Amino acid sequence: MVLGARQNDDLSIQAVQALNFRDTGYPYRMRLGAIQAVAAPNAAADGSFDVPFFQALPADFTGDVVFGLGGHPAWQTTDQNGDVYWERAAAVSALYFPGTERVAAFDSAQCNACHNRLLAHGSNRNGNVEFCLICHNADAAVCDVNPLPDGSCPAGVTMEGYGMALMIHSVHSASTTWLEGWAQDITYPQAIANCDTCHKDGAYDVARTSARAVSTDHGADIRIWTDDIATTPNAAACGSCHSSVAAAGHFSSNNGQVGVAKSDILTVGGLPNGQEACAVCHGTGSEFATELYHNPGIAE
Ligand code: HEC
Ligand code: HEC
Ligand code: HEC
Ligand code: HEC
Ligand code: HEC
Repeated sequence: MVLGARQNDDLSIQAVQALNFRDTGYPYRMRLGAIQAVAAPNAAADGSFDVPFFQALPADFTGDVVFGLGGHPAWQTTDQNGDVYWERAAAVSALYFPGTERVAAFDSAQCNACHNRLLAHGSNRNGNVEFCLICHNADAAVCDVNPLPDGSCPAGVTMEGYGMALMIHSVHSASTTWLEGWAQDITYPQAIANCDTCHKDGAYDVARTSARAVSTDHGADIRIWTDDIATTPNAAACGSCHSSVAAAGHFSSNNGQVGVAKSDILTVGGLPNGQEACAVCHGTGSEFATELYHNPGIAE
């Protein structure tokens, strides 16, 4: 579970401040420049300094954390001559895993073979595609603009699930339904069935055993994930391309669940439990392994 809050944007008031911002799929955020101003006077002789994280993790928190560092190239800066600029060099984003690393099913280099340096949202998530997973996680179902302070979406705005597999499969297969057809005009320059183009070998036959059910829409309250509408991880990953009613029926008969409240996913709110039977038939090396049906024209 990722918790929602971020630092107040007003740097002059406080370096860090919790702010209920989006739903529970959103990470804690703080602005390094402002923190540095507070922390630097206490720097050690070598110039290093400690920054206490502004928000304590909940007492019942379990699992691993990830820290991401991004530099915003379109932030207002003032140089030593007092000149104000709205740009600076775009630093490549960095990730740190103090515990167990969240292994991605793709490699940034595979995306960047086409995108050169994939960046998004004002370019502060830059070059390192694994960075996107921090927010584009299984619990990310948000409005496509900032929600109102009470957590609801402004009238008339689109609500969607933004999990990475759901989003990236939908974008490149030019989905006519995801985000109301946002990506429907995209022309992908090769067969979308070439899983190997984006994926690490063997990483796409079935989802990671630690994968959570994927939110495809939020429920009544955007700030909680338990009422999101969700689909079990394999059904979500395969189903973003295999979207027929027959395919959904095949997922269900093999213990997948499609488009149900997260609290109704067989175990606790869609936490990983291996309820889906897919790996028995579609897992690496099995009789109907996913890779056997895709990658047309690519020599194994
Ligand atoms: C074979 C080439 C290719 C590969 C590999 C590829 N993409 Fe793309 N991607 C495209 C094309 C083409 C578009 C459409 C660009 C357009 O129409 O503006 C696109 C669009 C996108 C968009 C939407 C961009 C926007 O804002 O308009 C995102 C996000 C994206 N890709 C992410 C990824 C990620 C993440 C990966 C790796 C997991 C990846 N892509 C791998 C070719 C590729
Ligand atoms: C700090 C959180 C965060 C990170 C990191 C992040 N995103 Fe997003 N992204 C969002 C949110 C929230 C939305 C939902 C709509 C919005 O607010 O733009 C979104 C929406 C999108 C969309 C849908 C189109 C749109 O703009 O609404 C695309 C495409 C996208 N993100 C691509 C990426 C890629 C690629 C990366 C990594 C390079 C990335 N995002 C990293 C939070 C994030
Ligand atoms: C344009 C890039 C792209 C292509 C092409 C693509 N995928 Fe993916 N796929 C992704 C991304 C990005 C993710 C999210 C990976 C993650 O969460 O680690 C993903 C996730 C998945 C997952 C879940 C992995 C996990 O561990 O949770 C499966 C299964 C999957 N894809 C299957 C396929 C199959 C099968 C194909 C070919 C028919 C395919 N994908 C083609 C980008 C792509
Ligand atoms: C990125 C889109 C995409 C994803 C994700 C994807 N597939 Fe496919 N799949 C295709 C396409 C396109 C074809 C047709 C292949 C062809 O024409 O060469 C196909 C064909 C198949 C076939 C052959 C039967 C048929 O319908 O033609 C099977 C079986 C299959 N996929 C299983 C899976 C499984 C299992 C997953 C998830 C682990 C998955 N696919 C994920 C795009 C996808
Ligand atoms: C008992 C074996 C078995 C299990 C378990 C199983 N499948 Fe399949 N699946 C198959 C077979 C066989 C096919 C048809 C292959 C062919 O076309 O030759 C198939 C086809 C598919 C296709 C292609 C459907 C289409 O549109 O043509 C997808 C996607 C798929 N399976 C996903 C899944 C997912 C997700 C799960 C788990 C929730 C799952 N399967 C569990 C045996 C299985």
